[in-house]
Amino acid sequence: MMLSQQHIDTVKSTIPLLASAGPAITQYFYNRMFTHNPELKHVFNMTHQKTGGQPAALFNAIAAYATHIDNLEVLTGAVMRIAHKHTSFNIKPDQYAIVGHHLIETLRELAPDAFTSDVEEAWVAAYGQLADIFIKIESDLYQERAAQAGGWLDFRRFRVASKTAESELVTSFVLEPVDGGAVIGYVPGQYLGVKLHPKGNEFDEIRQYSLSTAPNGQSYRISVKREGSNNIAGVMSNYLHDHVNVGDEIEAMPPAGDFFFQDKQTPVVLISGGVGLTPMQAILDTLAKQQYAQPISYLHACAHQGQHSFDAHVNSLKEQLNLSVYTWYEQAGNEAQGVLNGMMQIDAVKDSLPLTDGEFYLCGPVGFMMFVKQQLLTLGVEADRIHYELFGPHKDV
Ligand SMILES: Cc1cc2nc3c(=O)[nH]c(=O)nc-3n(C[C@H](O)[C@H](O)[C@H](O)COP(=O)(O)OP(=O)(O)OC[C@H]3O[C@@H](n4cnc5c(N)ncnc54)[C@H](O)[C@@H]3O)c2cc1C
Ligand code: HEM
Repeated sequence: MMLSQQHIDTVKSTIPLLASAGPAITQYFYNRMFTHNPELKHVFNMTHQKTGGQPAALFNAIAAYATHIDNLEVLTGAVMRIAHKHTSFNIKPDQYAIVGHHLIETLRELAPDAFTSDVEEAWVAAYGQLADIFIKIESDLYQERAAQAGGWLDFRRFRVASKTAESELVTSFVLEPVDGGAVIGYVPGQYLGVKLHPKGNEFDEIRQYSLSTAPNGQSYRISVKREGSNNIAGVMSNYLHDHVNVGDEIEAMPPAGDFFFQDKQTPVVLISGGVGLTPMQAILDTLAKQQYAQPISYLHACAHQGQHSFDAHVNSLKEQLNLSVYTWYEQAGNEAQGVLNGMMQIDAVKDSLPLTDGEFYLCGPVGFMMFVKQQLLTLGVEADRIHYELFGPHKDV
């Protein structure tokens, strides 16, 4: 259904109502949806439901849509990011009807007085328009990937060809297709949607893992940190570390993601915290293959040397690239030569960085990226030269 001006005005008039309810709306929505359609628990990351990140991300998206419904171009970047994420979960058109139904029923149940037939008609039309946008973009992404040499549709089975510890917490897995075929390439920075069903687990689990080396047409490599906090072990990462070995099979969607290296033939600064170093490895390896001539600075922070993955490999790339490496260990007492102590203070190396003409790529914990981005902005780096990836539901940093 086409949106009329009246639909647009009506949707906009409900913004204060949405704002006052906040993410409680999407929390209610997800509870409703998982009660009526429990099969979707195989698709969604149920940990993000418990920790609240995903309900907040969905609420922000819906509030932004209502706000910009008469100027959707503003949302292009966000829509592309979400569409890429959706394709890594193999989200299908018929699932949009389920989500739409529960969204409308949520509005009706939470605000029965305000949810008049006009409001219902406007939101049904507005949701339909947004769903059609996602379905079209996602269908194009699926088709493009399937059409390339080595491409595929839906989940494809992969066998673990090697498993290598990179540090105390991070282990790499090289994945080859079980069917023996080739695999499509990717732009360094992109990730794979990986699915498995841990033994004893109630649901399938799907997680994203950045590709951690250059594309080679035959296999993919991911590098996974063992996650856990407050005595709750991360489901997928611990299962991969403890139970998935060479010869075992997992499933994966084709590479996706809108965070990737953009070749502008300018100096490059890669900045990572902890396991946020995985996309940076893919970028560095790809630039080494291409013999990228511009200066590259790689700034990395982690807890201590024992958790410093890919250290020797990165240093070996100095022979092929115009590469400067700066490292911070947060914990004092295990300084390696040339390593800085404490938090990543960019001031210490700012004179060596291309602050006025470089492209900056960030990946790491949200707090780390906020801390670093703020420093870069203070040093005069323009916001549109700072690109970042989050290892979880999106937030603006
Ligand atoms: C684009 C993208 C790229 C990524 N790339 C990488 C990568 O290259 N390498 C990598 O290691 N990871 C990467 N990740 C993260 C990865 O997808 C997983 O999120 C990560 O492995 C944790 O998954 P898990 O199943 O082990 O943990 P989950 O079970 O999802 O748990 C996550 C965290 O929540 C905590 N938790 C669980 N339940 C609760 C609760 N009830 N209350 C409070 N806390 C709780 C757990 O202790 C754990 O610390 C990426 C994510 C994205 C989105
Ligand atoms: C118009 C409708 C929809 C909107 C506005 C929307 C919005 C979002 C947003 C904002 C995110 C977070 C993206 C990020 O982290 O960057 C997300 C993730 C996700 N969406 Fe959607 N979505 C819609 C429809 C659907 C449908 C139909 C499904 C399938 C049932 C779905 C499944 C998922 C899943 C599985 C994730 C990842 C969840 C996680 O990591 O916890 N979405 N969506």
